[in-house]
Amino acid sequence: MLSFGDGSPIGVFDSGLGGLSVLKEIHQLLPHENLVYVGDSVHAPYGDKSAAYVRDRSQQITEFLLNQDVKAIVIACNTATAEAADLLRANSDVPVIGLEPAIKPATQLSKNGVIGVLATQRTINSERLLGLTERYAQEKKVLAQACPGLVEQVEAYELNSDRTVSLLERYIHPLLDQGVDALILGCTHYPFLLGEIRNIVGNNIEILETGKPVALQLQRILKQYQLERNCLNLSSDSTCKAQLSIYNSSNKKQAHLTMKKLWKAPISIQVLPELN
Ligand code: DGL
Repeated sequence: MLSFGDGSPIGVFDSGLGGLSVLKEIHQLLPHENLVYVGDSVHAPYGDKSAAYVRDRSQQITEFLLNQDVKAIVIACNTATAEAADLLRANSDVPVIGLEPAIKPATQLSKNGVIGVLATQRTINSERLLGLTERYAQEKKVLAQACPGLVEQVEAYELNSDRTVSLLERYIHPLLDQGVDALILGCTHYPFLLGEIRNIVGNNIEILETGKPVALQLQRILKQYQLERNCLNLSSDSTCKAQLSIYNSSNKKQAHLTMKKLWKAPISIQVLPELN
């Protein structure tokens, strides 16, 4: 593994804006680390595309991030992790951290052993989810629900419109009817719908996200490879102020506006150059 300057950024990408839910956790846990985020909104949702398409885009974005001298890459997308993590690891000389539906923690939190997973069609069909279920949840009942349309609602910043609520109800009610007491958000767009999801499921159901665990995993990896940014005096040393570079493949005002609203703090957004 190569050794990088401490100030090199960490690359984070997603099919679109959902990965901001992961970026937020990373920024909170590692506030001094420089970050480069790529949202591929032009090509979202990945969940409806072929595996080859998702692999190609993930590979191209990874090359872009490597050209920015990143010291680690976080795939802030369950779908891209399921399809492309092995490929990206094979082609990168920096650590690549993926994320996957929180099946293992859900088995520990569920009291009745009935667990629901909300994710994209591609994640639901993936061998990765099957493998996780076989490894950790053989004795449990795992109900996997594909949620077409939800990614688009988040991309359009329709977090509580009638259509969003009716899609959520359509996907979640059958799981509630079958008794789930733990619900996994297996797509990084869905944490932005948490308020509406909580309204539907009530307070007695555990809802699991992966942003925080991934940030903690990144912290462990940076430590392990001695890649942490060395800021001894974070509060007074202005050279230690983290830089946040945000790219979106879309040049549409709407996509940039949604990004800003989801981030909830001032950010400037650059249009991702054409990748091939
Ligand atoms: N945020 C992506 C995920 O975690 C959404 C994939 C998509 O664009 O369909 O799976």
